[in-house]
Amino acid sequence: MGQPVGVFDSGVGGLSVLRAIREELPSEALVYVGDSGNAPYGDKSHDFVQGRASTITGFLIDQRAKAVVVACNTATGIAVELLRSEFPNVPIVAIEPAVKPAASRTKSGVVGVLATAGTLASPNVTKLLNTYGVDVEILTQVGVGLVEQVEKGELTGKRTRSLVEACVRPLIERGADVLVLGCTHYPFLTAEIQAVAGPEVEIIDPATAVARELRRRLAAAGLLAPGGARGAEHFLTTGDRETASPIMSRLWGSPISVERM
Ligand code: DGL
Repeated sequence: MGQPVGVFDSGVGGLSVLRAIREELPSEALVYVGDSGNAPYGDKSHDFVQGRASTITGFLIDQRAKAVVVACNTATGIAVELLRSEFPNVPIVAIEPAVKPAASRTKSGVVGVLATAGTLASPNVTKLLNTYGVDVEILTQVGVGLVEQVEKGELTGKRTRSLVEACVRPLIERGADVLVLGCTHYPFLTAEIQAVAGPEVEIIDPATAVARELRRRLAAAGLLAPGGARGAEHFLTTGDRETASPIMSRLWGSPISVERM
């Protein structure tokens, strides 16, 4: 196997980014780490999230990763500068809430951003909101309980619907016509979010933009895998393998074997 691209998240949510990467870059070998044993990151201390992000990035580089994708908005918000200074020789591509495209697409002038408390409190995201919140109103909302529902694989059902209602409805009632999914777990709840928001509301997930950025960075560094065969995929979890395997298989869209990190 050629050198893989390493991808990590606080848990299973980053698989929404991995799907986009697989689509954009079919020949790349991929290693995914879901830190489900420590999810959610959203309400943990900065030191904790930085420690986890640094340990996992170091692990991926030990696995010969030629680039690392931070598929977690919370880890980006809290730890991306640290990772780039600790690992200066490896391209690090990071996801952040897609506030810029949302600000250009809203017709009502109101954008809703759904994210974790950690993401919304991070200096990077505060800066993003101040930059693009001049001509449009940007409402922020913590998706309380949503990461936990996705970690359990409960993508539908009464409890999930009521948690989605609690965070989406206030944004729609205040006029948002574009919703930014600022947490990589949330794309797995898109059907529920759309059902609550209504068909007119546009939902923006930046996963494809991240996959394209990864392609650009690999190409610029001369690191793109040669085309041809489909790249291998390797899935790891810090949680319980037996629990993670069926959930990760379902989110990935085909049966996968998951190892313990
Ligand atoms: N998927 C992570 C994100 O994008 C979830 C954070 C968490 O674990 O709270 O923010």
